Amino acid sequence: MELQSRRILLGVTGGIAAYKSAELVRELQRAGATVQVVMTRAATEFVTPLTFQALSGQPVFTDPWDLRVDNAMAHIELTRGADGLLVAPATADFVAKLAHGLADDLLSTTALARECPLLVAPAMNRQMWGQPATQRNVARVIEDGVTVLGPDSGDQACGEVGAGRMMEPLAIVEELVAFFTPKRLAGRRVVLTAGPTFEPIDPVRGITNLSSGKMGFAIARACRHAGAEVTLVAGPTTLPTPAGVRRIDVSTAQQMHDAVMQACAIESSPAGTRSRSEATTAQGRPDLFIAVAAVADWRAATPSGSKLKKRDGATLPALELVLNPDILAAVAGATDPPFCVGFAAESEDLERNGQDKRRRRNVPLLVANIGHQTFGRDDNELLLIDERATRRLPRAGKHELARALVEDIAARLPPSNDRSRR
Ligand code: CTP
Repeated sequence: MELQSRRILLGVTGGIAAYKSAELVRELQRAGATVQVVMTRAATEFVTPLTFQALSGQPVFTDPWDLRVDNAMAHIELTRGADGLLVAPATADFVAKLAHGLADDLLSTTALARECPLLVAPAMNRQMWGQPATQRNVARVIEDGVTVLGPDSGDQACGEVGAGRMMEPLAIVEELVAFFTPKRLAGRRVVLTAGPTFEPIDPVRGITNLSSGKMGFAIARACRHAGAEVTLVAGPTTLPTPAGVRRIDVSTAQQMHDAVMQACAIESSPAGTRSRSEATTAQGRPDLFIAVAAVADWRAATPSGSKLKKRDGATLPALELVLNPDILAAVAGATDPPFCVGFAAESEDLERNGQDKRRRRNVPLLVANIGHQTFGRDDNELLLIDERATRRLPRAGKHELARALVEDIAARLPPSNDRSRR
C-alpha cells in the first residue's frame, strides 16, 4: 500500500486512452490511494462519468458550475487537500492549455487553481506528439514544474506505430510512488547485487541456491525511488527490472564479481591491491554498495564441457571445488571504498554471527535476515547490525522493508563530498 492515505485528483481528457484510466483508478486504489475524478467534456465521449463514479466510489465532476460543491467553486474545492493532480490521459490540447495558462473548463481551471503538484501522462498520435508546437508546450510545462510521465512508444489506436502512447496504468502508479518518496539519495550512485549465482558443473547441471532476488530487487527499486542512480547486478532470476534501474545480468560469482568491479570502477593492480580507476570514477563512482546476492561460496574447479554420464558400475564422479571471489570483501577492501552494506542469512545466533561477518568483511553495516527461511517469500524481518548497536525492522512486505532500510542507510551516508569517514 505505497500510496496509503494519498488523495489523488485524477483528470481525464478526451483521448482514446481514457479507457485505460478506468484501470488506472483501480491500480491507484490497490496502492492505497483515494481517487476523485474530473473529466473534460470530450473525455465523456469516450467513457461515461458513471464508469468512473462506480470505480472511484466518488462523484465525478465535469462542469465548473456544478452545484454539488457547497460554495459552487469546484475548481478550488477539488484540489484543496489533494496530494496531487494527475491528468491521464493528457491530450495535446490539454498540454497546450497548461502551457499557456488557459482555463476554459473545469479541469484546466482546476489545474490553474491547484496548490498541489501536477503530473500529466500525455497520450496522442505520434505526429501530434512530434509537432514542434507540442514539443514546445511540453518543454514549457516541464519548466513550470509539471512532471511529465512518458509517453511510451509502440502501437497506437490509429494503427500507426511511434511515440505518444499513454504509459500503462501500473507504470503510472509506479511513477507516482517514486514521486512521493523523499529524495534522500538524490545525486547518489548505488550499486547492488541480488539473486543467486549459478556455478556450472557440466552444460546442464550446476550449484545454485533458493534466493529469489526479491529483496535485492525491492532495495534497488527503493533506492531509485529515493532519487539514486542505480546499477543492479543480478544473478539468474525472472524478476522484472524495476523502472529506471540499470540492470546487468550475470550467472556465476566470477561474472558477478567482474561486473561489480567495473560498476564500482575498481581495478586490480599487478601487486594485487585494488584501487579506484581514475578513468571511470570521473563518470560517477558509487557512494553506496549493497551486497544482497546469495553468492555461491564455491564453484566446480573444472566444469565438464559435456554432460557427465551415469555409466552403470563406474565410480561416482568426484567434484573438486574451488573458492569463489568474495565480492563484498573486494569492494570494501578497495582504496576509498563506497559505503558498504552486507547481508546475511543465519540459522542460529544471528547477532553474534552477523557481527562476526560484518567485522570480517570490514563493512559498516550488516543486515541479517531474521529467520533463515526468507528465500522466495514476499515478506521479511531484518536486524541491522553496526559497530555499536542493532536495530530491528519488524516483519513487513519486502517493498516496505526496503524503503525503511534505504531510509536508514541514507542517514548513515557521509555527505557526498566527504568520503573520509567510510
Ligand atoms: N558475499 C559476496 N561474495 C561472496 C560471498 C558473499 O559478496 N563470494 C556477500 C553476500 O552478498 C552478503 C555477505 O557477503 O552480503 C555475506 O554472505 P554470506 O554467504 O552470508 O557470507 P559467508 O561469510 O560466506 O557466510 P557463511 O559462512 O555463513 O556462508
